[in-house]
Amino acid sequence: PLVSMNEFLPKAKEKKFAVGQFNMNNLEFAQAIMQAAIEENSPFIYGVSEGALKYMGIDFTVAMAKAAADKSGLPIALHLDHGSSFEVAMECIRAGFSSVMFDGSHHSFEDNIRLTKEVVKAAHAMGVSVEGELGTIGGVEDDISVDEADAALAKPSEAIQYYEETGVDCLAIAVGTAHGMYAGEPNIHFDIIEEVTRAIPVPVVLHGGSGVPDEMIKRSIAAGVGKINVNTENQVACTQAIRDALAANSKVYDPRKYLGPARNAMVEVVRSKIRLFGSNNQA
Ligand code: G3H
Ligand code: ZN
Repeated sequence: PLVSMNEFLPKAKEKKFAVGQFNMNNLEFAQAIMQAAIEENSPFIYGVSEGALKYMGIDFTVAMAKAAADKSGLPIALHLDHGSSFEVAMECIRAGFSSVMFDGSHHSFEDNIRLTKEVVKAAHAMGVSVEGELGTIGGVEDDISVDEADAALAKPSEAIQYYEETGVDCLAIAVGTAHGMYAGEPNIHFDIIEEVTRAIPVPVVLHGGSGVPDEMIKRSIAAGVGKINVNTENQVACTQAIRDALAANSKVYDPRKYLGPARNAMVEVVRSKIRLFGSNNQA
């Protein structure tokens, strides 16, 4: 069965490794992520955005994740990524999700706390884990000036208060990463990660894990990151493999002939992340 993140996050924090959240966008993503995790004996989290949920349908999403958990025997959490409302979170829990993120970062600090508390109360009553978010994590547009990026960073004192009032199971804080690939390198504020981690018993979550240099990932984990989200790197590998397969044979019409290589390419991305995060042999 699917498990909540509390099956592996406390161990990750204690032993200083991170569990990967790999976003699921279709069957090939679900299978590739599972395959790499089986080969590396790693726990993992299927992240599903609201957009991906609409694309796949909630019933197929849950069925694929459950099939992966049954087939692999690994601790796998099915997690709503950037959930925007109490209602969506409850819809996912009812359908079989074992974990949800409530992203109230666009609300005021007070409203974010109030709304997150409601989700935590309902989710915990059903054994479902909750991730909260504080500060604003940058979008795909990477030409934001440093000043603007700094303005969105999480304040450690607020992050600690947010944790204490909400009781979330892990906490995403804006520390300088952004969703999508980077034009240059991200400027990660390791001091913020450290300050928050020292003060709370649950791990910090790093969003925007794609394209972050390996050394920065290692430093983040040493500073207290216990969950890292990766989506774009799998999307890029998937699409590149499809382009290559189509370019190599203009007569191909069987989707399996290009989706198979796409799936293989994603297995390698996930495998390298699992090893980098140190979650291999931790299942
Ligand atoms: O919530 C999803 C992640 O933060 C993915 O970020 O696409 O930059 O890897 P990424
Ligand atoms: Zn994210």
